[in-house]
Amino acid sequence: MQKEKKTVIETSGITKIYSMGGTEVHALAGVDFQVDDGEFVAIIGASGSGKSTLMNIVGCLDYPSKGTYILDGVEVNKLERNALADIRNQKIGFIFQGFNLLARTSALENVELPLLYDRSGNKYNLKKRAREALEIVGLGDRADHHPNELSGGQQQRVAIARALVTDPSLLLADEPTGNLDSKTSVEVFGLFQELNAKGITIVVVTHERDVIHYVKRVVELKDGLLIRDELQTPRSAAEDLERIIAAEIDAENAAENTVVGADESAENLAEDVDEDVTVEIVKETPGGSTQDINELAV
Ligand SMILES: Nc1ncnc2c1ncn2[C@@H]1O[C@H](COP(=O)(O)OP(=O)(O)OP(=O)(O)O)[C@@H](O)[C@H]1O
Ligand SMILES: [Mg+2]
Repeated sequence: MQKEKKTVIETSGITKIYSMGGTEVHALAGVDFQVDDGEFVAIIGASGSGKSTLMNIVGCLDYPSKGTYILDGVEVNKLERNALADIRNQKIGFIFQGFNLLARTSALENVELPLLYDRSGNKYNLKKRAREALEIVGLGDRADHHPNELSGGQQQRVAIARALVTDPSLLLADEPTGNLDSKTSVEVFGLFQELNAKGITIVVVTHERDVIHYVKRVVELKDGLLIRDELQTPRSAAEDLERIIAAEIDAENAAENTVVGADESAENLAEDVDEDVTVEIVKETPGGSTQDINELAV
């Protein structure tokens, strides 16, 4: 018998109106959006279509103007700020485009942060849990590095470790690969696929068409409305990464061969020159004068 899927996110008629000096911006115009346990969803749409606004509401960072939002069975838009922050801390890991790491603290301390804010009364071994989270993202050996001593992809992985350290059931990411090159973006999505396979529900906002292939469902927003919602069979980011790395190795080898080729032709050239010199010398011997050599050299 198939297990009934649990609904993690359920928004009904969500609107968001920002008031800006007398004018109103309708960022969300009535969004019904549902995500079940174990899904991996991408939210796409043009700039200004309301993606971040929706993510901030779903991530309990902001309230809707109207509508209801039920997270894991709790109607969170009725909660006051502190209670909302507690729910966010317990259930949600949030990843931003700009990583938002503290510059003067190590990777390990950055990852520990959400545990320090945890007011649930649980006593954790902070360092141990932060270290485990760094290991999950493959950065166990970079715990003592500061953000400026890490690559962009590594910084984003620290941010992912920080989002994972509280053991959230829901991971939200707003443009997590916006600052990364395409190979590192595939790496990050590979990590998301691994986490999703372990049962973490993931919703990610992205602009990049290339990475949309790695999710199971694509939702599109336009002018604050949901206009598309499609399931798809995801590509494997790990396999794509293998292909990218193989292509890089091929390209490196080809470049080396070109250099070797150049060396060889340089050697040939040197031999040619030697031959010329030899020819000159051979021809010089019978003539025996400098003038002859000069004539021959012309
Ligand atoms: N704090 C705010 N105050 C006023 N207007 C806002 C605020 N935040 C967003 N908006 C407006 O709401 C609309 C939706 O913005 P939102 O940030 O959700 O778009 P987005 O889809 O995330 O765009 P992008 O792809 O550029 O990040 C935009 O028109 C934006 O100007
Ligand atoms: Mg945005």
